[in-house]
Amino acid sequence: MKLLITAGPTREPLDPVRFLSNRSSGKMGYALAEEAAARGHEVTLISGPVALQPPKNAQVVRVVTAADMLAAVKLHLKKCDVLIMAAAVADWRPARVGKRKMKKGGAQRLTLELQPTPDILKSIGKLKGRRIFVGFAAETHNLRAEAKRKLREKNLDLIVANDVTVPGAGFEVETNCVTIFDAQSEEQWPLLAKRDVAERILDRIEDLGKF
Ligand code: PMT
Repeated sequence: MKLLITAGPTREPLDPVRFLSNRSSGKMGYALAEEAAARGHEVTLISGPVALQPPKNAQVVRVVTAADMLAAVKLHLKKCDVLIMAAAVADWRPARVGKRKMKKGGAQRLTLELQPTPDILKSIGKLKGRRIFVGFAAETHNLRAEAKRKLREKNLDLIVANDVTVPGAGFEVETNCVTIFDAQSEEQWPLLAKRDVAERILDRIEDLGKF
């Protein structure tokens, strides 16, 4: 199979020295890329800014913002059978980006105006064709309802939901604790190394048997 995998955070600049971002380390997405490449699949990894070694035998495309990631996904999707969106794409970006460093100037309060970033999965929905789309859902509450809503609204075949408040799950850590949903079923997996979670996700994708 030819897989396109996204990993890590995006950074949305505020001025030349500051940005909005999130806690994603890229470990979950990189584990997927490593496992897929080790199985002999062709892997393109679109990575936000992370401090990880590039996976062996994968093409790595580096991006910074959500808009960059959308452009890279659109470009590389054409040659791929499967898209896995493990990246934690920032949902908001500053409405104005300063060309120069913002100064405090004695202010006691600062209000930032934000605007939504593009939703990558929603933007590429029409390009899906026969491809398999797998999303993640990072939740702090209502995990099941939110995962099912995102599965439906983002036109996904599978969604991997993690409750990021559970110790050992979600951002930065080496392990994850996830529930995987398709339109008919859900399966909760125990706390596992991210590489083992990646193995199980790839087993599920291979079982879809389209390729
Ligand atoms: O990187 P790690 O430190 O290893 O942490 C792993 C993780 C917590 C980042 C990962 O397991 C995870 O949950 N990734 C998805 C995080 C996320 O953005 O979830 P969401 O529920 O906000 O988004 C739902 C889906 O839509 C995701 O597949 C996301 O990639 C995608 N999305 C989100 C926003 C956006 N603007 N465009 C999108 O396509």
